[in-house]
Amino acid sequence: MSRSFDERRVDFPTLRGEDVPIYFDNACMTLKPDSVIQSIQDYYTQHPSCGGRSVHRYAMAVTRKVVAARAKMASFINATEPAEVVFTKNATHSLNQIAKGLSWQKGDIVLTSDREHNSNLVPWLQLEQEVGIDHRVIPSMSDNTFDFETYEAMCAEAGSALKVVSLPQVGNLDGIEYPIGDACKVAHDHDALMVVDAAQSAPHMPVDVQALDVDFIAFSLHKMLGPSGMGALWGRQELLDDLRTISAGGDTVNWSGYSDLEWSRAPHKFEGGLGNYAGIIGTGAAIDYLSELDMNAVHEREIKINQIVTDGVKDLSGIEIIGPTSASQRGGICSMLTNGQDAHDLAVILDEAGGCMVRSGMHCVHSWFRDRGHLDGSLRASFYFYNTEQEAKTFVDTFQEIHNAMF
Ligand SMILES: Cc1ncc(COP(=O)(O)O)c(C=O)c1O
Repeated sequence: MSRSFDERRVDFPTLRGEDVPIYFDNACMTLKPDSVIQSIQDYYTQHPSCGGRSVHRYAMAVTRKVVAARAKMASFINATEPAEVVFTKNATHSLNQIAKGLSWQKGDIVLTSDREHNSNLVPWLQLEQEVGIDHRVIPSMSDNTFDFETYEAMCAEAGSALKVVSLPQVGNLDGIEYPIGDACKVAHDHDALMVVDAAQSAPHMPVDVQALDVDFIAFSLHKMLGPSGMGALWGRQELLDDLRTISAGGDTVNWSGYSDLEWSRAPHKFEGGLGNYAGIIGTGAAIDYLSELDMNAVHEREIKINQIVTDGVKDLSGIEIIGPTSASQRGGICSMLTNGQDAHDLAVILDEAGGCMVRSGMHCVHSWFRDRGHLDGSLRASFYFYNTEQEAKTFVDTFQEIHNAMF
């Protein structure tokens, strides 16, 4: 029989015992279940060796686990082939591999939104500075939701110069979901590639790469119960064949001579050098864990928790929720401007006096905050399936008390 989300709290070491703090910083990094921690320990204690090279028993054990982890990730996102899954350091690495692996001509147009994490902004800005691509920003509606009409108009204006549309599936600033499927159809109508940053969607809802019909997707596995410093990149095999690696070296070629070489195919072409085997094996355990969950139910639970927090803070003086007030449009993120009080100060007090951990600052979305003059950033509470409605209520009580004293 499947276990409830509440029953699963015991799987997480930091959620066991007395006086457990409230962890609402899941958009940054999720907690890790015992099975992930154990799999990493097993790697270091049972076969601390390198995979894909040596043929002794330790190395073969590692190779088998790496192959299994890749297959699990492929199945979790419904990829057609495990070879379409490349393990990376993080979503940032994945997006850099895509941006810098494509071939560019001066004037090629790339569209992103105005609410990008730096991971999906800085690589394009770098290409603009170094190669002369034309990076354009799609403005959001006044409530921060995606402006589809403007997007379509900008695609039409770009015409045949449009090369890539790169959007998050869910924004880390505010939790708002983008209409990726529809945006992808428009991009493809213009023969452009569709790149998706799934750092904030894949941990929280079903992501089916075939159903989305996009071209490349970046994942952040440390936001999916996986070990720190792990990410993944999915791409269509034929596109990965043409993508230039940014990590040339050991394990990326079938053979090399003094003046020539033959590249391996994906995923190996992109995984140069000795890998993070502990991280990859831990990822396999994380995907096993996530595969036991109903991802639609994860999404619903986060919305419920978010609505309790939203209702408890939205009418307080100085507090302004970023995005629509209905939590159903903001998934598992409640980000608020704290006009008149420093968000970092509030975050420290929430933790030290109230036992609630949240994120404060600009969340790597400097462009949005700077453009609007909100230089203190925001206070962001972000939820996961192991959080509870009781935690949300305790957070609200704590926040209201601090608010009464400070505002
Ligand atoms: C939307 C989004 N994209 C990209 C990233 C970067 O992820 P990573 O730390 O895996 O590079 C984050 C991290 O917070 C994010 O929220």
